[in-house]
Amino acid sequence: MTAMQKVSLGAHYVVHLQAPDDFAFWRERARGLIQCDVPPDRLSWVEPGGMGDLFATEGPFRGERRLPVPDDDARPVRASKRFMKLARNAALHSDPQRFGLLYRMLWRLQSNPRAMEDKADPDVRRIEELDKAVRRDSHKMHAFVRFREVRVEDGSRHYVAWFEPDHHIVRANAGFFIRRFANMNWSILTPRGCLHWDGVTMRESGPARREDAPQGDPIEELWKSYYASIFNPARLKVGAMLAEMPKKYWKNMPEAELIPDLIAGAQAREVGMVAAGAREERERPASLAAIAEAIIGCRDCPIAECDTRAVMGEGPADATLMIVGEQPGDREDREGRPFVGPSGQLLDECLAQAGIDRSAAYVTNAVKHFKFAQRGKRRLHQSPSAKEIDTCRWWLESERTLVKPRLVLALGASAARGLLGKTVSISQARGKPIALEDGAELWVTVHPSYLLRLEGTAHEEQGARFAADLAAVKARVAELEG
Ligand code: URA
Repeated sequence: MTAMQKVSLGAHYVVHLQAPDDFAFWRERARGLIQCDVPPDRLSWVEPGGMGDLFATEGPFRGERRLPVPDDDARPVRASKRFMKLARNAALHSDPQRFGLLYRMLWRLQSNPRAMEDKADPDVRRIEELDKAVRRDSHKMHAFVRFREVRVEDGSRHYVAWFEPDHHIVRANAGFFIRRFANMNWSILTPRGCLHWDGVTMRESGPARREDAPQGDPIEELWKSYYASIFNPARLKVGAMLAEMPKKYWKNMPEAELIPDLIAGAQAREVGMVAAGAREERERPASLAAIAEAIIGCRDCPIAECDTRAVMGEGPADATLMIVGEQPGDREDREGRPFVGPSGQLLDECLAQAGIDRSAAYVTNAVKHFKFAQRGKRRLHQSPSAKEIDTCRWWLESERTLVKPRLVLALGASAARGLLGKTVSISQARGKPIALEDGAELWVTVHPSYLLRLEGTAHEEQGARFAADLAAVKARVAELEG
């Protein structure tokens, strides 16, 4: 009997999901059902506690059948990488229609593998919306979870936080908190389920209530004083602030108590700073190897969702000279090393001409993941936004803290922003040292990709200026080492 024949004519099938965030289960069932040619309108997806769950034996799903099983040699199911990436996230949304929507799209992809490329398609748009909402919710969780200290009878410290996610994101974000707070015993309580980490193992428990979480302790004071100190009255953007930190989160955040006063008095700094504050609080990795490991899992900005690998800096851990580029490109992402593609080759040539030994320098990037737009098979470079550079800055600073270069050469505006935390004009900044707060000197020049885009005399002129910048850096490094 073929898989087709096993499908009961006119039957309505119901798939009972075991958990609202079980994407792997959905994928498995969806694959089998597509292989058995079950059309989307003959299928319902029911999550625990959902409508279909209540009425599973009577009501709308009374005619429910056992799910058909595909043959071993059933044709494979096709799904683009983009679809799978978006679907994995969209499945965490709280929209009860999401699994049906994803199945419909997967069904359509079998006859039209490029269906996801139609940006105006209502299904594609809805999947993108769900993905965006889930990413935003995860971002909020990363930024706004605040731990309170709880005294445990044996004298050890336990930290407990309360968070109210909009979507089923708690389990999916466990890894983020394990990496960030690996050495702490902590619990994150939410109405959608709780996570508990004891430094070694992760445990889950059912939903909690706000009253289960402790309120107020010295950590709050720490947050409050931190927030007040970073508050910049010159830059109030209440709209942006509310968008970044909806009022719903205020009650969980000690520093939020200060906000009304601070706003009333003047203007507030964008509250993205609070998230940055959370990072400042974080312990910096103790070695370059630890950074290399940690950036793999970093999801602090959306670039990492591009499905690329993180590219770590390379070079001697005590280099005098650190060279900083913008972000890995296509080749760097494939090879896992900075500056190995066309820009890297030009950089190597120019460094050699200037007498700078690349292998003696520590070479890295302001942003650790490759940001691109997929065009057919090609991945086209996209410049990182200022916010993305600022988010990744923490890693660059962590590298700088360990390597302690005495001279840092920024190639291009993104690199300069990554080092200074603000935008500078290359034409004004180049050719002279800028003091960094740790005493190192920052020198700024253009990015080699800029030279690659120029032709004729412009190429020659700018090439000569770049060579002169490198020569000045070479001379200064020699002085610093001498
Ligand atoms: N461009 C950069 O800025 N960095 C690289 O590693 C490669 C290209």
